[in-house]
Order: sequence, then C-alpha cells, then structure tokens
Amino acid sequence: MQLVLKNGQVFSGGELKNLNIGIDNGKIVELSEGELSGSKEIDCTGKVILPGLIDPHVHFRTPGMEHKEDWATGSRAALHGGVTTVLDMPNTKPPTLSVELLEEKREIVGKDSLVNFGFHFGAAANNIEEIKKVKNVASVKVFMNLSTGRMLIDDEKKLGEIFAAAKQIAVHAEGGKVRLAMDLAKETRTKLYLCHISTAEELEMIADEDVFVEVTPHHLFLTKKDAISPFFKMIPSLKSQKDQDKLWEAINSGRVNSIGTDHAPHTAEEKESGEPPAGVPGIETMLPLLLDSVRGGRLELGKLVELCCENPAKIFGIKNKGFIEEGFDADLTVVDLEKEWVVRGKELFTKCGWSPFDGKRLKGFVERTIVGGIVKFENGKIISEERGDEIEFK
Ligand code: DOR
Ligand code: ZN
Ligand code: ZN
Repeated sequence: MQLVLKNGQVFSGGELKNLNIGIDNGKIVELSEGELSGSKEIDCTGKVILPGLIDPHVHFRTPGMEHKEDWATGSRAALHGGVTTVLDMPNTKPPTLSVELLEEKREIVGKDSLVNFGFHFGAAANNIEEIKKVKNVASVKVFMNLSTGRMLIDDEKKLGEIFAAAKQIAVHAEGGKVRLAMDLAKETRTKLYLCHISTAEELEMIADEDVFVEVTPHHLFLTKKDAISPFFKMIPSLKSQKDQDKLWEAINSGRVNSIGTDHAPHTAEEKESGEPPAGVPGIETMLPLLLDSVRGGRLELGKLVELCCENPAKIFGIKNKGFIEEGFDADLTVVDLEKEWVVRGKELFTKCGWSPFDGKRLKGFVERTIVGGIVKFENGKIISEERGDEIEFK
C-alpha cells in the first residue's frame, strides 16, 4: 500500500473507531483493526482522523481579482484548514456565465490548485442557453441581492426562467428574497440551496421547507458587537446574539444542512479604504473553530462531520467523497483535539493576510491534510505541490 495511517481514532460509520487506514492509488482500500503495512506509514496515536472537509462556498477570485486571492494561495489556505475540496463561486472578473469562461477557469485552476475543486455556475438575465448547456457544475448560483461582482438579478420572470433551466440553484437571497427563492423553486421543482442563512427570522420562514440550508462560521462565532471595523463588513452582515443562538439551535435540531465558509478575501488596503468591500476570509479557521466547539461541548463531532463532509457530498452529489469508507477517495484530515494555537492573520496562507478571528485562541489543530492519498500539509507546512483534481458530480 502507498500509505498507511496507524493507530488513529477514525470517524467512520457515524462514530470514532480505533482503525488503521490503508491507502492505495489515492483510495481508501482497507479499514482494519489489524496491522496494515505500507511504503509510507504515519503514526496517528492520540489523533482523530476525519474525512477531508468539503467547503461548498468559496470565492478564490480567479480570474480577474488575483490580487485578493488565487488558487495557489487559496488552496494552501484550504489545506491549512483541513479542507480537501472546494466549490468556487462565479462572481469573478469576468463572471462565470458561459461554458467557454468556465473552461478557461477550469484550465487555470487545474494548474494551480493543490486541493480538489468544483464550480458553481453563474446566472445572468441573458445566459439561459449556457445554463442549459453547462456540465459538471455544483449549481447555478443566483444573486438575488447586490454583492461583490454586481451579479444581481431582480426581474422575477427572468428568475423563473433561470430556476426552470437549472437542476440545482444556490442563492444569495437575504431576508425577504428567501421567500421568493423558495416560491420559484417550488414552482419549477428545482432543488434549492440557501447560502449563508444568518437570522432567526429566516430560520422561521424556512423551518418546514424542502430546501438546503447553509450557515457560515462567521455568523456562528461573531455577532454585530464584534463588527468594530470594516474588516468585519460582509454580506449578509453580522447579526445579534439572539440570531446566533438560533443558528446554533438550528444546527443541533438538524435544520441546518451544511457549513460553508463564504471565504471572501479582500486586501487590507481595500478594507481600510473609503469604500471597503464586503467579505471575510474563513477557510483556514472553520475547522479549528468547530473543533474548539466540540471540545467545549457545544457541538458533537458527528454533527461537524455531517455538516462539513457528508452533507456537502450528498447535497451536490459529489462522487466518492465525504466519508471514510473503503472505496472512497483518500481525502483526510488528521486533527489534534488537545492542541491549542492562536490565530494570527499574518501567519495564514490566504493572500489577504488577515482574519476576523485574529488573536483568538483555539483548542483544535489541523495536523495533516491528505488529498488523494498524498500528504500535502503537515505540521504547519505545505509538503507536496501535487495538484488536485476536478471533482465529478453524479
Ligand atoms: O460579503 C460577501 N462577499 N458577500 C458576498 O455575497 C460576496 C462576497 C465576495 O465575493 O466578496
Ligand atoms: Zn453571498
Ligand atoms: Zn459568497
């Protein structure tokens, strides 16, 4: 075998088990309580091994805004955060609105990304034919509010056509727009993924609806009281303590289906300018923040895995990922639940070099990140430049 992870506590079949993991040709080939041997062996005594996280919502800025982030820096940030697959949003420059533009993006990303990747396709008033043609994308992303990239669509007739043309829609639809998105999804029988739900009111509105609900780490760990500078400006904005409490309740009740970082880096200079853009980086801090909550008793480890690994794979139909099982891809993250560290924006891999969690002490540390059977991140360092693959959707 190419690689064996020995003596770890492995999250598999819904619980932690003492198992050795045998990996060959990038796949998990054997899970065993007995001895396994491989050409490379790593002792994971005292460590927990989780499926590599799938971040369903990142803005890695290629093409056109590479001064904020690119796939070399963004994918390194992902590795540092224990994330092995990312789904990128279409509000780049130009936005990903045609099959041709998507092909160009695929080519650049394939050359630069150290993690696995997939794409959300963009929607505009005039790209219905492209939406019908496009293949192997996570969803068609519709901006129903104005945000970075100016991709707003507010003509209801157009929205109806877009919903009807797409297999699955992801929406940025704050507040009142959530209702409209759900009505359109029902009328057109399209699967709907609600990005970054942030308020108690929205949660009430969607309580019994057949939709997927995503929340972000910044809404789970920060409130509007923390919003002391433009670095904390994002859309949707930070909310009240009550809203945050309701998000946590919804996590534990099962109403929340996934956690997406909405990793949206902007440079410090841009943030300090007269017109600061909205958005915060988050891919490096999501898993440690959540592990810290597991240590603190606020979150079950199984729930974390469900929200960050299993459900993103299920919701978007990603093949062979999200679970530690024989036959699945060997995308894994090895974590230390006891180790404490302090978030320092300048030490992160994201190109923007800052974090809304700067200075925060967290118990929960990503020790190693393994993508397709290759150890790419180990004890704070990138140790392999091997590229990741585009994922396949069922
Ligand atoms: O704060 C945000 N930033 N919200 C969005 O919807 C877009 C994102 C970005 O791309 O900067
Ligand atoms: Zn958004
Ligand atoms: Zn976003």
